[in-house]
Amino acid sequence: MSKTVLTYGTFDLFHVGHLNLLERLRELGDRLIVGVSTDAFNTTKGKQTIVRFEDRLRIVQNIKCVDHAFAENSWAQKAEDIRQFKVNVFGMGNDWEGQFDELKPLCKVVYLPRTEGISSTRIKDALRVLDKAHVEELKQALGVISTIVERFE
Ligand code: CTP
Repeated sequence: MSKTVLTYGTFDLFHVGHLNLLERLRELGDRLIVGVSTDAFNTTKGKQTIVRFEDRLRIVQNIKCVDHAFAENSWAQKAEDIRQFKVNVFGMGNDWEGQFDELKPLCKVVYLPRTEGISSTRIKDALRVLDKAHVEELKQALGVISTIVERFE
């Protein structure tokens, strides 16, 4: 019998950590389905994305190892999705370790190691350095540094 794996996430600024997780989850079964958090649901979590829901959904839908992607609107829908999609394995990155153990009576629950050193938040922080105010500060700092360097030439 074919085995269905389910996961959820926001997948903002889709990166290699997301891809690694989805590929490893897909290897646990024959079909991978993914719930992508809507903008409205993220607002209730206090999370604001750079990429809007419709585009995040399209990106995840078009990842080779993903068979089906759909909207995640609430915390409560997981049990219903597991039943509806006849899910065998529910998996998340291990930053969620233990947090979905209540689903264990419904299917197998796994937490896979996250990819080190990358996250949507980290990319957003790195990009923040490039906003106008920071670029001005960087220019001024470079000016000071070049003056100091010149003294040693
Ligand atoms: N994930 C992962 N490795 C990473 C980043 C994310 O395995 N380096 C996993 C998460 O554990 C989760 C899924 O990818 O199961 C979707 O995570 P998401 O919250 O959308 O991505 P993050 O990059 O963690 O976003 P944020 O920084 O906003 O928390």
